[in-house]
Amino acid sequence: MSEPEAVVGILGAGRAGTAFARALLRAGIAVDIASTRPPRALQHHLKIYAPGADPVLGADIAVRARTSSGLVILAVPQEELDEVDPDWVTGTVLIDATNTWQDELLPGWLQAAVDEQLPTSMALAGRFGAARVVKALNHIAHTEFDDAAQPGAELTQRRALAVAGDDDARGLVMGLLVRMGFDPVSVGGLAAGRIMEPDGPLFNRPLRREDILRFAR
Ligand SMILES: NC(=O)c1ccc[n+]([C@@H]2O[C@H](COP(=O)([O-])OP(=O)(O)OC[C@H]3O[C@@H](n4cnc5c(N)ncnc54)[C@H](OP(=O)(O)O)[C@@H]3O)[C@@H](O)[C@H]2O)c1
Repeated sequence: MSEPEAVVGILGAGRAGTAFARALLRAGIAVDIASTRPPRALQHHLKIYAPGADPVLGADIAVRARTSSGLVILAVPQEELDEVDPDWVTGTVLIDATNTWQDELLPGWLQAAVDEQLPTSMALAGRFGAARVVKALNHIAHTEFDDAAQPGAELTQRRALAVAGDDDARGLVMGLLVRMGFDPVSVGGLAAGRIMEPDGPLFNRPLRREDILRFAR
């Protein structure tokens, strides 16, 4: 069987991870996806929530992605991040789709950043130092994702999503969002991702490009 044109890895097969997977699959992009469960145990869940996605071990999340798209999406609750081995995503562009919720017991390295009011993506960039971290996909609810992804629509008619990142990795992520059916808008470097967090002005709002540009650096 021939290899698919592009493969994206997704860590986390919950509400967010499977919504991302569905949009990617609709765009003709193959998906490797991991949860805490072994791949065989994940099969049934994926048949329902992300048919066509390939279950893999967390340790194998970037095996195919690394040599095609180069992209892995992080959709694991922040309280579980100590269980995600940074080596799994070495050499990838890691899309940080995570958020901090008030009742979460965060890993110490992440709580320290929150206490200092630093954007959580910056702490993740330190933790996952062998990947290039870009913040995206965190500020839209999974319940809205399927309808909001409109790959057939003109860019200006699509829902806009913000992207924050420090180098050309940001462009790679923006290209992915276009294929998924959104209008990606750069808000600046990783530090600018603060405006995408749950207490920020972009969170869970149906935005157009001009709405996001009002807050971009
Ligand atoms: N829900 C949303 O609308 C939404 C939207 C955007 C962003 N987010 C963010 O995305 C993150 C996940 O949220 P969610 O709502 O999708 O949570 P969820 O429904 O609870 O799903 C979490 C997933 O992460 C998996 N997981 C936990 N530890 C893992 C590990 N060490 N390795 C691999 N997978 C692991 C879980 O595995 P099991 O299935 O085996 O338990 C589960 O599949 C959060 O930070 C959230 O803020 C959520």
